[in-house]
Amino acid sequence: MSERHRRILAVGVAALDIVNEVAAYPAEDAELRALDRRIVRGGNAANTLAVLRQLGHACAWAGTLGRDAEGAQVLRDLVSRGIDTGACVFHPRGSTPTSYVTLSRAGGSRTIIHYRDLPELSAADFARIRLDGYDWVHFEGRDPREVVAMLRDCGARFSGAGVSLEIEKPRPGIEATFMGPRVLIFSRHYVRSQGYRDPQAFLREQWERTDARLLILPWGEAGAYAQSRGGDICFAPAHRPPRVRDTLGAGDIFNAAVIDGLLAGLPPPALLRHSNALAGHKCGQSGFDNLVTSAREAGVL
Ligand code: FRU
Repeated sequence: MSERHRRILAVGVAALDIVNEVAAYPAEDAELRALDRRIVRGGNAANTLAVLRQLGHACAWAGTLGRDAEGAQVLRDLVSRGIDTGACVFHPRGSTPTSYVTLSRAGGSRTIIHYRDLPELSAADFARIRLDGYDWVHFEGRDPREVVAMLRDCGARFSGAGVSLEIEKPRPGIEATFMGPRVLIFSRHYVRSQGYRDPQAFLREQWERTDARLLILPWGEAGAYAQSRGGDICFAPAHRPPRVRDTLGAGDIFNAAVIDGLLAGLPPPALLRHSNALAGHKCGQSGFDNLVTSAREAGVL
């Protein structure tokens, strides 16, 4: 999308995903055979970067890994994609996060059981990263105290085009992170956890809690919403692939397209269309490899 390729730093999780494909999601205590299995690198920030790389951007990941076989596999994957891992922090006593994913062929749903026993990247770790030269910094809304400190640090040291933050899960104190980023991306899960059924009501009521300039709210198969400060709420319907095969990481891909589109200067309606197109196209294919090429071939991008 963007004419000029940019440098993007994403701070968050890289994990190992063990993905079993089954005909239909099992009942509790069932025993069944998987139809297919893949063991791949996952994690929100890492998935987002993998697709930003496909879009031609220079990408760096900052996060933590254990000194174990899973961590080595995750690192190898990131390096093989040309993602800079120089800011990775290893914790010899923790284990690399692992997700056990059951993908149902019947509905395309993905059920994730995530195990982690690893410290997060700290604000002190983040302070060691040189930020000059980056155009964009993206955060996952994880440990609020650390994220708030990292956002403040960005405020003092980062002069690129923007900072985005994904609020995926409710966590005590997470609302403190709403001050600082230029763009907030909320998940449907978070919005519902706050007692909202209406995405537009949620958006309208966030402005007092944030100094962001743009709020984005992907709403899965029901489309996506965005609102700029002082502007109207806009909506774009979801892009539906011919067949839903694999929804794992669709939100991470949506975020990649948001960052790509913002760097290209897209206004909210076009930004939502771009992000829905790439995330929707992803749901029609297994995994993320060649996503951008196949989206271009299909005329989706
Ligand atoms: C999908 C995903 C997986 C990962 C899990 C937790 O969105 O990023 O790849 O294992 O979420 O980060």
